[in-house]
Amino acid sequence: MKVLSFGSLNYDHVYEVEHFTEPKETQSSLGYLRNFGGKGLNQSIALAKAGLDVYHAGRVGSDGQDFIDYLNKYGVKTDYLLKDDSMATGHAIIEICNGQNRILLHGGANQSIDEAQIDDVLEHFEEGDVLLIQNEISNLSYLIESAHEKGMMIIFNTAPMNDKVFTYPLNLIDIFVVNEIEAAGLAEIDSKDEKEVIPVLSKKYPDKAIVLTAGERGSYYIKGDDVIHQDAYMVEAVDTTAAGDTFTGFFLASYLKYQDVKKALDLASRASSIAVTRRGAAQSIPSIEELA
Ligand code: RIB
Repeated sequence: MKVLSFGSLNYDHVYEVEHFTEPKETQSSLGYLRNFGGKGLNQSIALAKAGLDVYHAGRVGSDGQDFIDYLNKYGVKTDYLLKDDSMATGHAIIEICNGQNRILLHGGANQSIDEAQIDDVLEHFEEGDVLLIQNEISNLSYLIESAHEKGMMIIFNTAPMNDKVFTYPLNLIDIFVVNEIEAAGLAEIDSKDEKEVIPVLSKKYPDKAIVLTAGERGSYYIKGDDVIHQDAYMVEAVDTTAAGDTFTGFFLASYLKYQDVKKALDLASRASSIAVTRRGAAQSIPSIEELA
């Protein structure tokens, strides 16, 4: 079984601020860092750090060689990562305030993934292989349909949640990974209370597995009427960026290895609780040894 993470790569421009900038306001930042990020890259690094062999497919621009080196440093295979010199790599502008973040995305090369690239990549995968995706690249419907035709298992982290999600063939997804906001969006209700959201999701997607993270209230695995809950490990958060990506990568790695949902939720919770105590995206993801 091969694991393919097909997703975004962003330069994260991170500004520490006293308060989130208001409309019409200009404020100076308290600090600045440029980090490697993108939900796709973060999740690939998390999978690799959790001990899984992973291929990352995606697209970077002329300024993107550093991403290839960074992924390779953590053992992620980049054979299917395209460097397109005609465009710029995606980027994100991130404000950090009291451990919370606010993210503005520019898709760049992530939004230039086309059917030809998808065909070229999927040629190397077959029935029983696994595809992990998020909502930050172009042509996701085609990618989902093509992977399904091959008989691949598909895991979809619906972040960032927007109306485009409902244009994708969601019936072909095997596992959804969502936080409270994405869960409410997927359930199409206006509530972040999981007690209200979970029954709606179970009814709407009765044959799908859904992994829901709810911050301090822990995480859930939902399949039809079966719900498994995992408490959160309480820590002092300094930066929540990539906490969800860390959770997704560690959950999936453990689940694929042991087919044990409880164990996978526990490992993922421990990993993301460490990630929030550190600044940055990919660099905040712990190694499996730290969890032991
Ligand atoms: O999930 C965190 C990530 O979201 C950041 O690294 C940023 O690039 C955006 O993709």
